[in-house]
Amino acid sequence: MRITRTDSIRFNRRAALMLAVVALGLLQSACSNFTTRQPPVWVWTDMKKQDKYKAQAESQFFADARASRRPVEGAVAQELYVADTPRATGVEDNGTYVARNPLPLSKETLLRGQQRYNIYCAPCHDRTGTGRGVVPSKAVWVPGNLHDPRMVSMVDGEIYHVVSFGRRSMPGYRFQVTENDRWAIVAYVRALQRASLSTMADVPADMQEKVK
Ligand code: HEC
Repeated sequence: MRITRTDSIRFNRRAALMLAVVALGLLQSACSNFTTRQPPVWVWTDMKKQDKYKAQAESQFFADARASRRPVEGAVAQELYVADTPRATGVEDNGTYVARNPLPLSKETLLRGQQRYNIYCAPCHDRTGTGRGVVPSKAVWVPGNLHDPRMVSMVDGEIYHVVSFGRRSMPGYRFQVTENDRWAIVAYVRALQRASLSTMADVPADMQEKVK
């Protein structure tokens, strides 16, 4: 087929029109991405450009003209706040450890404690508390054996204090675990100790046959 003169002119016009559309599109989409020291041409700002203060800038809005505001009077950073009560710290006002767990020793408490213990303590102390969890199996790090007579003779508040604030190489868990959950964990650690140190005399008479 022979291309006539009029055909080729029509073709060129169409090509030019398409080129113009493509170029316009490119210009529109890409002009904000050129590396240049000039401010880009914003056709649509897409929230890229908003009113804001830079650090230490002067403010027209606040009476003291500071854009950087000070914290509200008396504010305490969350991670710095520790309520100064025996329940929160595990330590009585006279400096001794709280003797007994303030939570009711119920099935719910123990189940909650077991669940939290398995998440937060078992990686190091293992699920039974002997201290052979997966972390010490990969690192030179010896978590205490929670069945050690020294640990068994600790009062509840001392274990709670270790869980909350750590001791020597053991990290504290007060930011990860809530106050109530830490006491629930203490109750569960007591259950683990009780289980490991129990004798046949602790088993109800009618169940002793089964256990043997
Ligand atoms: C990241 C590992 C790790 C986790 C998780 C961990 N511990 Fe420990 N824990 C240790 C190490 C290590 C020691 C030994 C500290 C030492 O004597 O230097 C220890 C010691 C202890 C002791 C004995 C402290 C003493 O006086 O010797 C208790 C009690 C204890 N942990 C309870 C817990 C409980 C309860 C949890 C769960 C909330 C927990 N730990 C979570 C690593 C861990």
